[in-house]
Amino acid sequence: MANNLLAGKRGIIFGALDEKSIAWKVAERCVEEGAKITLTNVPVAMRFGGIKELAAKLDAEIIPADATSVEDLENLFTKSMEVLGGKIDFVLHSIGMSLNVRKKREYTDVKYEWMQKTFDISAISFHKTMQTAMKLDAMSEWGSVLGLTYIAAQRTFPDYNEMAESKALLESFARSFGYHFAMKNKVRVNTISQSPTMTTAGSGVKGFQDFFSYADKVSPLGNASADACADYCILMFSDLTRMVTMQNLFHDGGFSSMGMSPAVFDWAKEAIAREAEEE
Ligand SMILES: NC(=O)c1ccc[n+]([C@@H]2O[C@H](COP(=O)([O-])OP(=O)(O)OC[C@H]3O[C@@H](n4cnc5c(N)ncnc54)[C@H](O)[C@@H]3O)[C@@H](O)[C@H]2O)c1
Repeated sequence: MANNLLAGKRGIIFGALDEKSIAWKVAERCVEEGAKITLTNVPVAMRFGGIKELAAKLDAEIIPADATSVEDLENLFTKSMEVLGGKIDFVLHSIGMSLNVRKKREYTDVKYEWMQKTFDISAISFHKTMQTAMKLDAMSEWGSVLGLTYIAAQRTFPDYNEMAESKALLESFARSFGYHFAMKNKVRVNTISQSPTMTTAGSGVKGFQDFFSYADKVSPLGNASADACADYCILMFSDLTRMVTMQNLFHDGGFSSMGMSPAVFDWAKEAIAREAEEE
């Protein structure tokens, strides 16, 4: 349901790769709520993803950028302001990639060059995006910058590997840069900590299906979908949340507040009973 919450606003959406991407759903909802947007992703995503299809559907321009390149980011903000006709009101950073995960290296046997690249892509790119926007004076007053994160920043999820530290760094950048951006332009910066979601980045994590089912059982409301995440992003881009900044906001159906989950306990008891029957 559209409520014109973003009427007249201009935004940049990073990270729409295919229709499962969280950024894809956010882009669709932004336009539905009256915003004008540009889409961006790494040049290789133009060939393998469906971003062109999304751009045609939303009448949005694609400005390719590798988010680890400051030069690409400068071009992205400059061109976006030209195309959209003014300063930017909101930015979604929806980027994650781990080389050690992709190449199936265990956490206790990582390659450090890859780990550094992972941090650059998944976290430092967030700082680069904000620093570039600030230097170009590209953000409107009361603008909103959002990054997507995961609870492995606070708790241990063994198979999440070096992405855990990437997310801890990302969330810390939101707090630290959020201070400076608020003081300079009243821009707010937050991260949304989303439930496991069936996307290309998500399903790259070892044992993702079990991980997904476990979180779904533990969360009293079940896992939050990508569509629900898009709704939350819209709220955070809207003028209804102007005083929210430097926060890590859990969007996870209650997962982060659970201690013991009776649903998981029952699940385990059923599995034990099944095993006993089979013996
Ligand atoms: N899927 C989940 O379970 C889950 C849960 C919590 C948080 N998140 C986070 O949500 C965000 C979006 O991921 P998703 O699940 O929609 O998966 P996705 O694979 O659809 O999106 C990841 C995007 O990052 C882009 N990307 C990779 N390297 C880049 C670079 N150098 N420059 C610019 N873009 C680059 C990819 O092209 C892709 O579009 C990520 O930050 C992810 O960590 C995902």
